[in-house]
Amino acid sequence: MSRAELKLDLSRVVFIGRTFDEYMQMFNLSQEELRGRKILDCPAGACSFTSIANKIGADATATDIAYYHPCEQLVRKGIDDIEHVMINLENAQSNYLWDYFKSAEGLKQQRIQALNNCSNDMREFPHRYVPAVLPVLPFKDNEFELTLSAHFLFMYSDRLDYDFHVQSLQELLRVTRDEVRIFPLTDLSCNKYEHLDKLVDFIQSQGCITEEIKVPYEFQKGANSMLVIKKA
Ligand SMILES: C[S@@+](CC[C@H](N)C(=O)[O-])C[C@H]1O[C@@H](n2cnc3c(N)ncnc32)[C@H](O)[C@@H]1O
Repeated sequence: MSRAELKLDLSRVVFIGRTFDEYMQMFNLSQEELRGRKILDCPAGACSFTSIANKIGADATATDIAYYHPCEQLVRKGIDDIEHVMINLENAQSNYLWDYFKSAEGLKQQRIQALNNCSNDMREFPHRYVPAVLPVLPFKDNEFELTLSAHFLFMYSDRLDYDFHVQSLQELLRVTRDEVRIFPLTDLSCNKYEHLDKLVDFIQSQGCITEEIKVPYEFQKGANSMLVIKKA
């Protein structure tokens, strides 16, 4: 699919990402679990997971709709988006727990660090950053051993309907051999995704084993569980 066909409007994409350390906590991972494994981060945005995971011996790939845009454009957008988020956060600080970041400035520094690590890695290893538009991914069946999906499915359930969730999950499972992990299980208002039970029933009916696991990461209040889906 070409960029022109997609008619991508960068102003609609928020190019923000979490750090490798945040991913380790929100997905309850150890570095030993990553080494030597083929891992997909989808959608990865401006995350530093792929950059650092490859440095410690994983074979990690990032995919996102934003990667149809050139890296330098994404960096400028990322810096603007971080500023924008910080302004909005001023009025909503009580919706968050600050044990991890300590302060708004601490949060900003981590987001900038993630953006810098991601963009430096993207310049050096562009093949690791694959443009794609869910619910379709340009990867082979079972290409990855582990797929991580953060802050997208469930979170934007006000604009992404149930069918989109089913199709996207089926696609994540198609390209994954062993396990898909999704964080968090809440929407933007911190309420549990309203169709989660129905979706879990559907996934189980496809022969997968699911488990909801509490994790040590909680920034948005109540967003502290991941869904682990194991392929039988
Ligand atoms: C809130 S960010 C999350 C990024 C990262 N996983 C994290 O936890 O920080 C959501 C990402 O989803 C991407 N996105 C939105 N719609 C998409 C789609 N249909 N297919 C692929 N990526 C999409 C956006 O470009 C954005 O980078």
